[in-house]
Amino acid sequence: MARPARIGVTGMGTMGAALSLNIAETGVDVALHNRTATRAHEVASGAGALAARLHPTDTLEAFVAALDTPRVVVMMVPAGAAVRATVAALRPLLAAGDILVDAGNADFRDTQAAVASLEGSGIAYLGLGVSGGEEGARHGPSLMAGGDRAAWEQVRDVFEAIAARHRGDPCAAWLGPDGAGHFVKTVHNGIEYADMELIAEVYGLMRHGQGRAPAEIGGVFARWNGGPLQSYLVEVTAEVLRATDPATGAPAVDMIVDSAGQKGTGRWTAIEALRLGRPASTVEAAVGARAWSSLRSARAAGAAALPAADVPAPALDDATLAEALLAARIVAYGQGVSILEGASAEHGWGTDLARVAEIWRAGCIIRSALLDDIARALREGLPEGQLHLAPAFAEAMARGLPALRRVVAEAALAGLPVPGFSAALAVAETMRRARTTADLIQAQRDYFGRHGFERVDADGRHHGPWAG
Ligand SMILES: NC(=O)c1ccc[n+]([C@@H]2O[C@H](COP(=O)([O-])OP(=O)(O)OC[C@H]3O[C@@H](n4cnc5c(N)ncnc54)[C@H](OP(=O)(O)O)[C@@H]3O)[C@@H](O)[C@H]2O)c1
Repeated sequence: MARPARIGVTGMGTMGAALSLNIAETGVDVALHNRTATRAHEVASGAGALAARLHPTDTLEAFVAALDTPRVVVMMVPAGAAVRATVAALRPLLAAGDILVDAGNADFRDTQAAVASLEGSGIAYLGLGVSGGEEGARHGPSLMAGGDRAAWEQVRDVFEAIAARHRGDPCAAWLGPDGAGHFVKTVHNGIEYADMELIAEVYGLMRHGQGRAPAEIGGVFARWNGGPLQSYLVEVTAEVLRATDPATGAPAVDMIVDSAGQKGTGRWTAIEALRLGRPASTVEAAVGARAWSSLRSARAAGAAALPAADVPAPALDDATLAEALLAARIVAYGQGVSILEGASAEHGWGTDLARVAEIWRAGCIIRSALLDDIARALREGLPEGQLHLAPAFAEAMARGLPALRRVVAEAALAGLPVPGFSAALAVAETMRRARTTADLIQAQRDYFGRHGFERVDADGRHHGPWAG
């Protein structure tokens, strides 16, 4: 009989296969399982020298039997019903002391429910956010763990060994009980949505507004990647904009239908942000933009009904766009940090926010030069809890705010939508005003609802001199 495997992975899709190969490469034996059993064998037989450490199985029973005790089972299947079905099928096969890990993109509330459903069974549950796409899963992802802390300590060595490293520091951490890890992954994806949208809006201003060619714009992004905007997403953008479609010779981006997909994490971030009273308007703008992008025939009808006649090209140089992008990014990350802080307080997770930023510095999709400064600023403590007020960002915000105003104003005059930049500008402007217009809102509320208000010159609750 083959030696028992230290860990098992069920779900041999893109991510499960890549993660299994990564684990095997660290010298650990991995049992493989997939709903369609042949796939587990295909992964093992295609693994070359790593095949010796991969143990494909045909049934869930054989899979569990192939594991050393305590058994560690990683599920890499779609979130929701598939995870629930897998947990239900595994539960009778597992015993107290075993560890179940959901490494998919689960809604953190589902993870909380899974933890609750296993209470009393002695089976520990970990919700593990995995970022970095297939490449990351294969060669070094960022890993955001939540759930049973003692269980994490038992498997930590395996996950730290496969994680990406930032100057030697593994990008893997336990961030709190129950759904904390999956929540952090959700917010990671929310920030990813916002950042992608901001980058796409810059592209839109240059392409649709200024009529520049994709390859030229790609060159600008490539240059920016050597400075404060350095990031995986800017690097990816530079590359895709310079790619040519082999079939037609046209820019590859021009051959792609302009309708963006989404699986839920951006939307969940926006929903949870609103629930927590920590609005993530930059993320919401990105979710909205993706939703509108799918309304293709309605947009075509709109283009015919409301043509943009005589609009000027946006008078924006690349330096202004770069400054605005950096400032908007700081705002978007700041909103992400605020949601994480709010959720951690609400759920009692005690999430170390600086550690979150530290494990995002490598392996994950939002890795960027900015995150090193963000991690440091979070370790030092944010003034008034505001990322954009941290000394490290003072200069970028001072230069970026006028640039943001220019970008939004020029886009408006050119008839180009910039929901992400508009949202970022609204946040930045609001948060630099000592007095807002909420005095009038309070007056209105008191007028029609007798809600009362606080006065600037006296304690207590007051009503206005109106009859309503
Ligand atoms: N792709 C990415 O870049 C990425 C990045 C981070 C996180 N994730 C998350 O990782 C998870 C897996 O994603 P993926 O891209 O690897 O998916 P995928 O390639 O579509 O693979 C899905 C896997 O789940 C199995 N499966 C589907 N429904 C099932 C069910 N009801 N019961 C049991 N097994 C079922 C499939 O088995 P069959 O072969 O039998 O169909 C397949 O092995 C998802 O939660 C995803 O959101 C993905």
